[in-house]
Amino acid sequence: MNVGIIGSGNIGGTAAKLFATAGHQVAVSNSRGPETLRDLVEEIGPNAHAATVEEAAEFGEVVMEAIPFGLYQELPAGKLSGKILVTASNYSPGRDGEIEHGGLASSELVQRHLSGARVVKAFNTIYYKRLRDNGRPDAPLGERESIFVAGDDEEAKDVVSGLVEEVGFAPVDTGTLAGSREQEPGSPVYNVAMTPDEAREALAGIG
Ligand SMILES: NC(=O)c1ccc[n+]([C@@H]2O[C@H](COP(=O)([O-])OP(=O)(O)OC[C@H]3O[C@@H](n4cnc5c(N)ncnc54)[C@H](OP(=O)(O)O)[C@@H]3O)[C@@H](O)[C@H]2O)c1
Repeated sequence: MNVGIIGSGNIGGTAAKLFATAGHQVAVSNSRGPETLRDLVEEIGPNAHAATVEEAAEFGEVVMEAIPFGLYQELPAGKLSGKILVTASNYSPGRDGEIEHGGLASSELVQRHLSGARVVKAFNTIYYKRLRDNGRPDAPLGERESIFVAGDDEEAKDVVSGLVEEVGFAPVDTGTLAGSREQEPGSPVYNVAMTPDEAREALAGIG
């Protein structure tokens, strides 16, 4: 599969490496341009290339955005139309400033901006070093660390859940984009390593 990455820092760069290692072709991009991504591409290996944001959006059947959330309106809506868009960003008022969200989940704001995209919230709760180190593709799903997945498009969610499994984690469904509030900062499952059983128990405690 072709995967585009918009925002290739801690989390985007780590995910890019995992997707490439799993055999996918990956286009990485950032705000400063492809020439600044030479070292990352070299580190990832032959399945990766550097691109502009627009090129990465165009390249990916699945595109992950992992940029500071406050900049989500810079994501190229036209190029992402029809694409499965994984939103890994988190709203952090200290970094992003005050954003009027009207009670919506951050992923719903992303979906509102990218109205033609199939938005799936995932990879946002896991610290990048755990994402880098804890994948166990050969372990049974029940013994793996969870990655939470939410979205309104079931097929898109299935595709992203497949990627989660390929890189060695267990997808745990938190429902719709509105439901993705359960995997936002402040939630009991945020940035906590847990098996799927532990995760479902923690999620049940929220409701
Ligand atoms: N750190 C984690 O473990 C972690 C885990 C889960 C989720 N997250 C979330 O993921 C997001 C990224 O966090 P991070 O720690 O990976 O940040 P980071 O290391 O600072 O990386 C941010 C990346 O986004 C790029 N970027 C910034 N503005 C952009 C724009 N307008 N268009 C395209 N690319 C842009 C940056 O490019 P330049 O360097 O060229 O500016 C950089 O590649 C945040 O929303 C964070 O809350 C982080």
